[in-house]
Amino acid sequence: MKSLYLSLFEECRKEYEAELARGKVDEARKYALKCAEILKTLAEKMPGRREFYLEKARRWEEAAEELKTSPPRGTQASLKGGASTDEYRAQVEGLIARSTVTWRDIGGLEDVKRLLARNVAIAFAKRPEAIKPWRGILLFGPPGTGKTLLASAAAGSLKATFFNVKASEVLSKYYGESSKLITALYELAREKAPSIVFIDEVDALSLKRESVHEATRRTLATLLSEIDGFKGGEEEFVLTLASTNTPWDLDEALLSRFPLRIYVPLPDREAIKEIVKIHTKGLDISGLDLDGIAEESVKRLYSGREIANLCNLAIHHMLEEENPELADFEVLSEGDPRKLELRIRPLEMRDFEEAFKKIKSPLTKKYVERYERWAREFGG
Ligand SMILES: Nc1ncnc2c1ncn2[C@@H]1O[C@H](COP(=O)(O)OP(=O)(O)OP(=O)(O)O)[C@@H](O)[C@H]1O
Ligand SMILES: [Mg+2]
Repeated sequence: MKSLYLSLFEECRKEYEAELARGKVDEARKYALKCAEILKTLAEKMPGRREFYLEKARRWEEAAEELKTSPPRGTQASLKGGASTDEYRAQVEGLIARSTVTWRDIGGLEDVKRLLARNVAIAFAKRPEAIKPWRGILLFGPPGTGKTLLASAAAGSLKATFFNVKASEVLSKYYGESSKLITALYELAREKAPSIVFIDEVDALSLKRESVHEATRRTLATLLSEIDGFKGGEEEFVLTLASTNTPWDLDEALLSRFPLRIYVPLPDREAIKEIVKIHTKGLDISGLDLDGIAEESVKRLYSGREIANLCNLAIHHMLEEENPELADFEVLSEGDPRKLELRIRPLEMRDFEEAFKKIKSPLTKKYVERYERWAREFGG
């Protein structure tokens, strides 16, 4: 019984997205209301999850309400392509990035790297028709754990065209027009296939957030249908990689487009040692107690970003000690910095001890557990 309603809901939601993508706001509104109805029925049938479904129903009603108040201006024309899409082409071309990051620039995360590399390889390999690669891969985990880095390395390892898109930027910069940008983006990506579209901070597009605007809805609907990739054939393959540090904010519609969800966790001791080596490259670190640094970093819930910052602070501490003239503003303001030659010495533990005092992780144990729970429940 439950699954019948869930599949009804799923169908209804798809219709809703399709209508939205076509710019048929009235039709979409009807489907949004229908979705709300189905969810209310589910709430009745499942007393244990009553609140959950009622809350969802309420969101769909809000969605319908918003569609009522926002005029469907230009929606249809905007999605039909033609001249309006052309305007966005130049913008989209600007999103093509050259990545120089390699897998070796990423410390630890061996399993993650392997999983990602393998799936990207399958996506872009010559393959028999029966083999269907994932079209969407989601990277999730705490801030600063290397998600953006991983996407760049995946792109850097291939000859694929790489589009680097920050969801929040697309929404704010092209406000109200962002769905056109997405259409243009995938059009170009198909043209320049094989391509990877990387959508950073994809949670900005989530409908679970408070006060979602119709423009966001439309953008999401467009994105979802582009990921499904019904336009273009196999030879125009586009892989969408997305990243988020709040996976629980993603709604089902979005999540369902990313069946492969890769957890990018905080670094363990071994990974931390590697990250320290990466971020002190070129300096003598033989005098460091790497195990001690790793131990302290784990205790403090440091991510790769904090470790990179830690190394940088330690390096600066060493520089200041070795180059006292750097503290003299008079000398600096009058001299030519290009003539300055910095002296260095091997890094020592006390450089790191100073650095540890200044760096605090934004995470708590509870928060990390939340990622782990989500990974167990939805990851895969
Ligand atoms: N595993 C790692 N190896 C080496 N450096 C790392 C690693 N993880 C993070 N870093 C460093 O931290 C910086 C931030 O990493 P990145 O931007 O990939 O994190 P993120 O997971 O995308 O974070 P956010 O969720 O905040 O977007 C990197 O530029 C790099 O300097
Ligand atoms: Mg990032």
